[in-house]
Amino acid sequence: MKKTMWTRWFAAILFVGGLAACSPKDINVGSWQVIPLPQEIMETPEAAPFVINSSTVISYPEGNEKLERTAYFLASYIREVTGTNVKVAVNGGKNTIALQVDASVSPQKDGYELQVSADGITVKGATEAGVFYGIQTIYKALPITDGKTLGAVPAGTVKDYPRFGYRGFMVDVGRHFFSVDYLKEIIDMLAMHNINYFHWHLTEDQGWRIEIKKYPKLTEIGSHRKETITAPGSDKYDGVPVSGYYTQEEAKEIVQYAADRFITVIPEIDMPGHMLAALASYPELGCTGGPYETATKFGIFSEVLCGGNEETLQFAKDVINEIMDIFPSPYIHIGGDECPKVEWKKCPKCQAKIKELGLKDTPEHSKENQLQAYFMGEVEKEILKRGRKMLAWDEILDGDPAKSTTVMAWTGVKASVRSAQSGFQTIVCPISHLYFSNPGYNRLTGVTSVARVYNFEPVNEALTPEEKDRIIGVQGCIWTEWTKDSTKMEWQMMPRIAALSELQWSRPEKDLDGFLKRLRHQLDLYTLNGYHYKEDIEDVTMDINPACDDGKAVVTLSTFDNAPVYYTTDGTEPTETSSRYQEPFTIDGQTPTVKAKAIRNGRESQVVEESLQYNLATMRPVHLNSKPDDAYTYKGASLLVDGLKGDGNYRSGRYIGIYGSDLDVVVDLGEEKEISSVSVSTCLVPGDYIFGLIGLEVNVSSDGKTYRKIASKSIPELEKGSKNNVTNLDELSFDQTKARFVRIIGKCTPVLPSWHPGAGKKAFLFVDEVGVY
Ligand code: ACM
Ligand code: ZN
Repeated sequence: MKKTMWTRWFAAILFVGGLAACSPKDINVGSWQVIPLPQEIMETPEAAPFVINSSTVISYPEGNEKLERTAYFLASYIREVTGTNVKVAVNGGKNTIALQVDASVSPQKDGYELQVSADGITVKGATEAGVFYGIQTIYKALPITDGKTLGAVPAGTVKDYPRFGYRGFMVDVGRHFFSVDYLKEIIDMLAMHNINYFHWHLTEDQGWRIEIKKYPKLTEIGSHRKETITAPGSDKYDGVPVSGYYTQEEAKEIVQYAADRFITVIPEIDMPGHMLAALASYPELGCTGGPYETATKFGIFSEVLCGGNEETLQFAKDVINEIMDIFPSPYIHIGGDECPKVEWKKCPKCQAKIKELGLKDTPEHSKENQLQAYFMGEVEKEILKRGRKMLAWDEILDGDPAKSTTVMAWTGVKASVRSAQSGFQTIVCPISHLYFSNPGYNRLTGVTSVARVYNFEPVNEALTPEEKDRIIGVQGCIWTEWTKDSTKMEWQMMPRIAALSELQWSRPEKDLDGFLKRLRHQLDLYTLNGYHYKEDIEDVTMDINPACDDGKAVVTLSTFDNAPVYYTTDGTEPTETSSRYQEPFTIDGQTPTVKAKAIRNGRESQVVEESLQYNLATMRPVHLNSKPDDAYTYKGASLLVDGLKGDGNYRSGRYIGIYGSDLDVVVDLGEEKEISSVSVSTCLVPGDYIFGLIGLEVNVSSDGKTYRKIASKSIPELEKGSKNNVTNLDELSFDQTKARFVRIIGKCTPVLPSWHPGAGKKAFLFVDEVGVY
């Protein structure tokens, strides 16, 4: 934020009145460079800004309750950010922020225009919703002042409208329950990011959270579980009961609170899978009749609603009808994800229904998947009867659903392409980029974590223009298996939700540096609101790259907001008296550790530390003959010799991922050296098709042309039950020999073994460092 002294706009400010000339205040001028970035910003820097003071009025058209409410929202934002109490009134003269509806400003209902001069701001929205987004922009454009200085915004024009009409965020309250008050806070967070759909995932195996009057046991029994597993894969349970549900009145209160902020609440009743809590309440709804228990661990359960039982279908219809009484949303989500068909294959009722409907297996759609599409299609009829639309997760495509379905593509980018190509309206929310609770991606830190979201393009290039039009929106999701409290919730949301909001609202062109510049102020707003954002965004990014040919490395340090950075190379903790980083510097094999921290006005970030492990190959020229997978190439071959070890997270950017082929890499030691062993470190995640080496071979050369094989060995294939996210080192020793060029071939596991769910498919190989000793 620019801080500008009173004198510059003295004349203009005399005009606005309300300032006693004897007590001039400093003025802080904000910036229209907010998140999400508006479509068009035309500043007039030579003109005086609009200064907000205690005489400022926010006006709204008489009788327009929505704009009246919006005016009060803006007044509260101004008070929060600048400490100034402004007035709200039907009429305003000069020094007024005038809220108006003017359909001509944008063909899009959420579009708006701001005209800003020293005299005031006109906020014209295409609808009341547009005005609301206009005031969100003003909120974020204001400088955060200490209450002693006045806040101002630059003169000019902002013309804005969203890229997507559907801008969603999902929160799962099934795995953990969150109070009505906290959900309202979440809704405020969404509003601040111009999000207009709150997808409320209300039912799960681990808890049914919405009162259904016709089926009271859903909440009497299904809203409780006796305890919760303590960690993924653990056999320990915490012994702490979890319960909670929302009465219909409370749900309506949430709907109204959201509607006041132009957010539609989409309820989700997930069926026919993820229904253990309902089955525990009404066992007769399942294929076997139970008994069932509300789940205490997480994952996918084979106990699901019976797809062939008329009473079960009636239950689903009844529930959805009560849900439609509570929620006026045009979309009603009925889930459809992760529904195993083990029981349906054995269940006489399910099989009889398949027969009655004449369903037959086809290459694309099994008859059980078609039964699911039928079941959901019958529920959809109830939804369509009341003029609403059905939303479902992308597994619904496996069963040939009606074209009226709107698909939420979560399993991957491919699902969004398949959905749009198959003619469905599609919402893009891939687990790989927009699941903010995904543990693997949650381990990414700093700019990397945010950039992964920001750099994602929701409309895939494989689509034709007509198919692209079917991508109606973008959504972020938080599943709460491991999210028990608001701190973790916000840590997962922020600041990635800022990047999400740009995908949803702003132009598709990417400018990560520009986004990061805008992010500083957004984080300050989070702090002002008491939101617990993921603070590692403020840590130093340390980039260590092998220098071309002398065994040295170049270290680059940066922060997203260009904060002052201090570092050490002797293992001591950096302080304000350590070297202040100015430009990239070189380290050699004598430097095992680099530590750095950013200090912002006395506020210290965490220390970032890199420990380097050297061998003869470290920081040497390297050539990779294998082709890494596009998604896992990262910096390329230099990762194999940069002295930096990866942990058990194969997505950390420390590993190169190769799909279905061997590792074949040549290291140039610079001159002939005596060598007697090599090593290759890998990451093993059999659950994600990532296997290890089954053989290692070394060839050496003095000229880089003619190679001599000097050693090889085979390595046992991974066995059933092998753990995930494990780092592994394979070594091969041989008689001492002289070599300058060392070619290491790591044989990949050619196909997944018979014990693996993906048996017969190709395996991934994730390689970190190669060592020569
Ligand atoms: C989902 O993540 N199972 C929709
Ligand atoms: Zn059945």
